Amino acid sequence: MIFLISYFLFFLHLIPAEQATTFNIVSYGAKGDGVTDNTEAIRKTLLAAANYSLASTVLIPAGDFLTGSLEIPSNVTFYLARNAILRASDNESLYSPIPSMTSDTSPFDFPFLLVNNSHNVYFQGEGLINGGANSPPGHLVREYQPSSNMLMPKEWNLTGCTYFSCRPKLLLIRHSHSIEISEITIANSAFWTVTVVESENILFDKVTILGDRRWPNNDGIDLINTRHVIIRNSNISTGDDSIAIVSHGPSSMFNITVENMDLQSTSAAIKVSAFDEDASGNMYNMTFRDIRITDSNRGICVAPRWGSGIISDILFEQMNIETRYFGLSWWGTAEPIYVTGLSMSANRHWTGKLRNIQFRNIVAQGEQGFMIRGNTSLLENISFENVSLTISRWSNVTEHPLYDYRPSEEPQLIDALVDGIFAQDINGLSLENIFIEFKAPKQKYYGQCLNLNNITQKVESNIQCRDVVSLSSSSKFLFRAELMFLFVLLKLFTNMV
Ligand SMILES: *[C@@H]1O[C@H](CO)[C@@H](O)[C@H](O)[C@H]1NC(C)=O
Ligand SMILES: *[C@@H]1O[C@H](CO)[C@@H](O)[C@H](O)[C@H]1NC(C)=O
Ligand SMILES: *[C@@H]1O[C@H](CO)[C@@H](O)[C@H](O)[C@H]1NC(C)=O
Ligand SMILES: *[C@@H]1O[C@H](CO)[C@@H](O)[C@H](O)[C@H]1NC(C)=O
Ligand SMILES: *[C@@H]1O[C@H](CO)[C@@H](O)[C@H](O)[C@H]1NC(C)=O
Ligand SMILES: *[C@@H]1O[C@H](CO)[C@@H](O)[C@H](O)[C@H]1NC(C)=O
Ligand SMILES: *[C@@H]1O[C@H](CO)[C@@H](O)[C@H](O)[C@H]1NC(C)=O
Ligand SMILES: *[C@@H]1O[C@H](CO)[C@@H](O)[C@H](O)[C@H]1NC(C)=O
Ligand SMILES: *[C@@H]1O[C@H](CO)[C@@H](O)[C@H](O)[C@H]1NC(C)=O
Ligand SMILES: *[C@@H]1O[C@H](CO)[C@@H](O)[C@H](O)[C@H]1NC(C)=O
Ligand SMILES: *[C@@H]1O[C@H](CO)[C@@H](O)[C@H](O)[C@H]1NC(C)=O
Ligand SMILES: *[C@@H]1O[C@H](CO)[C@@H](O)[C@H](O)[C@H]1NC(C)=O
Repeated sequence: MIFLISYFLFFLHLIPAEQATTFNIVSYGAKGDGVTDNTEAIRKTLLAAANYSLASTVLIPAGDFLTGSLEIPSNVTFYLARNAILRASDNESLYSPIPSMTSDTSPFDFPFLLVNNSHNVYFQGEGLINGGANSPPGHLVREYQPSSNMLMPKEWNLTGCTYFSCRPKLLLIRHSHSIEISEITIANSAFWTVTVVESENILFDKVTILGDRRWPNNDGIDLINTRHVIIRNSNISTGDDSIAIVSHGPSSMFNITVENMDLQSTSAAIKVSAFDEDASGNMYNMTFRDIRITDSNRGICVAPRWGSGIISDILFEQMNIETRYFGLSWWGTAEPIYVTGLSMSANRHWTGKLRNIQFRNIVAQGEQGFMIRGNTSLLENISFENVSLTISRWSNVTEHPLYDYRPSEEPQLIDALVDGIFAQDINGLSLENIFIEFKAPKQKYYGQCLNLNNITQKVESNIQCRDVVSLSSSSKFLFRAELMFLFVLLKLFTNMV
């Protein structure tokens, strides 16, 4: 339905610009030459659109438009034509602070684009929004660190920035509803790319988000205490988490669907977490389906660390996950699937519950195995069905992958063998149709297929385990045949969606 409405609106935009419903930034003095500061011109255009009594379009035509921060009002379609670039200025005095709604970053946000207490806002078109993080001359790059292959960002020295993250979030949507982002490309954010806080009815469709894979805190989409969300048919490639669904407050998060996506992350491709003293809301009814994760550090990461509430009823299905180790500068050591309920520190506790998490029809290849672990509270009812996992080594990092519990109480990093599935402190673990293979060449840190500790209500059926050295050619053939069967099955599922 939303999809149809968006197409209807799309055709409306093709109505000639002379009509009153379209406000072209060029008519208000904007110059697409890549150097003129267009902040005033575009702000004027947005005011005119806000002043218009009906829904209207603000048009960014072809050209390279440099600007400071902008606030997009209700009932406005922000339309970026083909070959239009909206480029974030590096002049910090062109950005307005707004109190941050997350306690783990600076007390103020400096959003490049802001939607605040608004509704019916659409970001559409074939153009590009460029956050300018590392554009020449590299306005927010402090230095490049070759040892970790990271770009260290330059923080702005502004009032209200008491600690890290005084950099612009690219698009911040807060206390809003009925917001759509479709077709456009959003690139090169200096911080989180799209952040949605305390909002509802949000659609992302056919969006491309391109970050710099070496850039810290470069998240793709962050949903914070937000409900009724669809993210689909999109590509996200970022340094930090591609999609992070995180509670920082008391309101619940539910009805979130993510499907048909291509994700790449130097942190976690998909993260679900609670991370605040008053993160007490429940998080439930989330579906992730038909997702391809490649060249990532972690695949799926469900890891609350601070707060309470119940995290439940999450389904991951029809996924291909490929994870490699990027070294200890990034959280995670190449786990395709990582589910942990640990506390962040001795005085920042997670006291909630994690239950009813289901993984099915998953093909994974990782340098680390799956890690599933509760701690002070047990994880409940975690199930894996039709899963193929291959452990092998192909990155260039010299150390082998550790257990990585960061951020957590000590010890955060534990030297241990790499098992297929390491699971501990769980009430209700079901493993059905599981194929695990350790690939040659055999590494001295390869452990067991299953390493299960303190698990009650365990169901195991049809577990196939192949260690690289113990493979006879006939069983190897059989195993291959089983894998082929699984792949055909998965292909079928994938084609169905
Ligand atoms: C707002 O709209 C009114 C009436 O349509 C018009 O007179 C006024 O000039 C507009 N203001 C701006 C800033 O566009
Ligand atoms: C946006 O448009 C809707 C429908 O026309 C209207 O009900 C609402 O008041 C408008 N919102 C604002 C802030 O003007
Ligand atoms: C930054 O913007 C302010 C406000 O428009 C302006 O006074 C100043 O000259 C700009 N600085 C640079 C380096 O362009
Ligand atoms: C955001 O909206 C709230 C509520 O309407 C308002 O108090 C606040 O000033 C707005 N902030 C900005 C930066 O627009
Ligand atoms: C930050 O700005 C303050 C006040 O403008 C100044 O005193 C201080 O030296 C600046 N710090 C840095 C690291 O530039
Ligand atoms: C779930 O969210 C979608 C997307 O916003 C919405 O269209 C749908 O009505 C919601 N479903 C329920 C049961 O609230
Ligand atoms: C859960 O989410 C799905 C997918 O959006 C929706 O169809 C269903 O109605 C939701 N169920 C509840 C109980 O909210
Ligand atoms: C992601 O981008 C690639 C390359 O352009 C394309 O082949 C693929 O279909 C895209 N994925 C999605 C889900 O749109
Ligand atoms: C376990 O979780 C699944 C969904 O993941 C749910 O269908 C089932 O009812 C749960 N079982 C129990 C005993 O809660
Ligand atoms: C299993 O884990 C629970 C929760 O952490 C703990 O209370 C219990 O002592 C553990 N049992 C064993 C045998 O380790
Ligand atoms: C490992 O290093 C080689 C040679 O420098 C390079 O060709 C290859 O792409 C690197 N592989 C990874 C996964 O980084
Ligand atoms: C598990 O919880 C206990 C008690 O809070 C804590 O001492 C320990 O460090 C935790 N384990 C991990 C791996 O975080």
